[in-house]
Amino acid sequence: MQRKKLRYGMVGGDLNAFIGGVHRAAISFEGKAFLVAGCFNPDQSANRECGEFYQLADDRIYADYKEMAEKESKREDKLDFVTIVTPNFLHYQVAKEFLSKGINVVCEKPLCFELEEAKELEALAKEKGLLFCVTYGYSGFPMVKLAKKLVKDGVIGDIINVNAEYLQEWLIDDIGAGDISTNKLSVWRKDPKVAGISNCVGDIGTHIKHTVSYITGLKLKKIAAKLDYFGQPLDLNANILVELENGASGVFCSSQVCVGHANGLVARIFGTKGAIEWVQEDPNYLKVTLKGQPPQIYNRGMGYVTGRASELNRIPSGHPEGLYEAFANIYKTYINALLKKINGEELSENDLDFPTVSEGAEGVKFIHAVIESNKKQSAWVNL
Ligand SMILES: NC(=O)c1ccc[n+]([C@@H]2O[C@H](COP(=O)([O-])OP(=O)(O)OC[C@H]3O[C@@H](n4cnc5c(N)ncnc54)[C@H](O)[C@@H]3O)[C@@H](O)[C@H]2O)c1
Repeated sequence: MQRKKLRYGMVGGDLNAFIGGVHRAAISFEGKAFLVAGCFNPDQSANRECGEFYQLADDRIYADYKEMAEKESKREDKLDFVTIVTPNFLHYQVAKEFLSKGINVVCEKPLCFELEEAKELEALAKEKGLLFCVTYGYSGFPMVKLAKKLVKDGVIGDIINVNAEYLQEWLIDDIGAGDISTNKLSVWRKDPKVAGISNCVGDIGTHIKHTVSYITGLKLKKIAAKLDYFGQPLDLNANILVELENGASGVFCSSQVCVGHANGLVARIFGTKGAIEWVQEDPNYLKVTLKGQPPQIYNRGMGYVTGRASELNRIPSGHPEGLYEAFANIYKTYINALLKKINGEELSENDLDFPTVSEGAEGVKFIHAVIESNKKQSAWVNL
């Protein structure tokens, strides 16, 4: 019988967490996957509170993720996929546990700490024939899809330069400026045991890298980075020179101490015939400037917006779509791909247009290269 709906579980993401709630909301947009199991918090009262809130069966609220993977894999109505939304240090071990038990995985970025771990997860997913998505959520925005299409169609010519940034201010207080920032995230991001070898680059610099590579279709060849720690164990500010695989140059700026910025992801792509600019805080628009002409502003949902950007449009232009919809687009694609796979249908290139474990591995490689370059007085490091 054809499957039309999927069952999923979640590790991390209790009722007080940030991104777990975004994932649950995003999955619910299509109504094709339902939360049936979870291990949301190592604290059992918060864990049960979350499981009960989502009306999970008592025996599917698990005290730990290993027990969850083990017991779920033996059920007839087992999970089709698990979503991992814990702090970074758990991603590798949780993903490995579920993959080993034959369960498909969606995991937050950064994928894991070490490149060897990333390669192991990539190989395991391949060996088991499982679909593994790493949620670089910004690649789900329709206007990012349009930017990718315009670049691929040659509208701005050959890529010659990129200039991209992700600026936040939420850790400015850590460098002694006083208590001015209210946009607080979980402070585990500052702890190397929980976050890994990087804070700023791991948390948001990887989004710059993914967004630029996604739009241009180009990997990074090498980077040279200067980081600022301001006396903290991990980086809070990063300025990175990059060279793309086609030889184009670029600059990435990633910071958690830039006053006046909240989630300022901006990608500017320059080509021989024109330029494209996308701003995450105004994500329904795309600025396209052709050489010798005034800038044009593309508006999501209009007739002239075609391809994946049009397929993934949800509401009429002028009504803003945002981060929830972008994540919903990633899940729409992933869940449809999984349903097709389970039902024995062939998958097209568009079906697989979600960020994969390989892209997650590229992100881990980028973080390590940046840290290495900074340690070597900003020497160029190949990726
Ligand atoms: N893709 C994006 O745009 C984006 C945005 C925000 C966060 N993230 C990533 O998502 C992850 C979570 O970030 P967050 O801001 O939601 O963190 P958070 O601190 O708000 O939530 C973390 C959750 O993990 C749970 N957890 C911790 N240890 C656990 C364990 N052993 N078993 C089960 N649950 C456990 C916590 O109880 C909490 O519910 C991080 O890896 C972060 O980098 C990605």
